[in-house]
Amino acid sequence: MLKVENLCKVFKNKKKHKAETVEAVRDVSFECSPGEIFGLLGPNGAGKTTTLRCISTLIKPTNGNVYIDSYNVLEDGKTIRSRIGFLTSDMKLDGFFTPDYMVDYFGALNKMRKENIQQRKEYLFNELQMNDFIHKKIDKLSTGMKQKTAIAISLIHDPEVIVFDEPTNGLDVITSKSVTDFLKKYAESGKTIVISTHMMNVAEKLCDRFGILVDGELKELGSLKEILDNNSSDSLEDVFFGYILPPAEGEVNHVQ
Ligand SMILES: Nc1ncnc2c1ncn2[C@@H]1O[C@H](COP(=O)(O)OP(=O)(O)OP(=O)(O)O)[C@@H](O)[C@H]1O
Ligand SMILES: [Mg+2]
Repeated sequence: MLKVENLCKVFKNKKKHKAETVEAVRDVSFECSPGEIFGLLGPNGAGKTTTLRCISTLIKPTNGNVYIDSYNVLEDGKTIRSRIGFLTSDMKLDGFFTPDYMVDYFGALNKMRKENIQQRKEYLFNELQMNDFIHKKIDKLSTGMKQKTAIAISLIHDPEVIVFDEPTNGLDVITSKSVTDFLKKYAESGKTIVISTHMMNVAEKLCDRFGILVDGELKELGSLKEILDNNSSDSLEDVFFGYILPPAEGEVNHVQ
């Protein structure tokens, strides 16, 4: 069970003459159970990546905490990292190496035994349909192939909790579907999955529950039905736009 509790993150940027603070995430709380896919939705700059980086122990919350079962990011960083698979768009893969080599390397970093790495690698390469390019240099791969490589690296140690920041960004519909089909199947095997996206069609198909994050605040939380009922709406996209677009003349929306 993943539990995000009253998470706040303030960045302090030192400028030449004055310090500037950015409240990227404000009092965000949500939970995700094993077998469930939670979608964190929000426009650019909403605080999605910041939230996921706090969950993955890459940055420390300013306030609040994140729990995985009885462990928390403030005190048990090492244990949390061993239980999490984190995928981010900033992941830089060395173009000189092959997917096969990189996945081996990360397996060894996770202190896995060679036989386990081999077994797990075969499973991931098959599931993600990577076998055609696992021995090509990463420099020569397409965006989708690189993304699948990054996914295989992040899952080599068979983590319980999967935290994927924009997993389908830049992917064509076919590659995007193979990634989302894989995540669905993976959740069904009892994994806890949190993804961020601003693509409503991906979210609606993939996620069991959602949080809509705007300007660092969680504006909506629940299943599709709960969110639609709360807003007397029949479209998640309309609810989302209601928070980020100014209202048309004569129309009332959530923006104050
Ligand atoms: N390291 C940092 N230092 C200072 N400000 C930051 C830092 N990281 C993020 N921010 C700020 O925090 C806010 C939230 O950024 P974040 O990257 O979490 O948004 P996001 O929802 O992931 O957006 P996107 O959809 O564009 O990826 C933004 O105002 C951003 O400028
Ligand atoms: Mg982001």
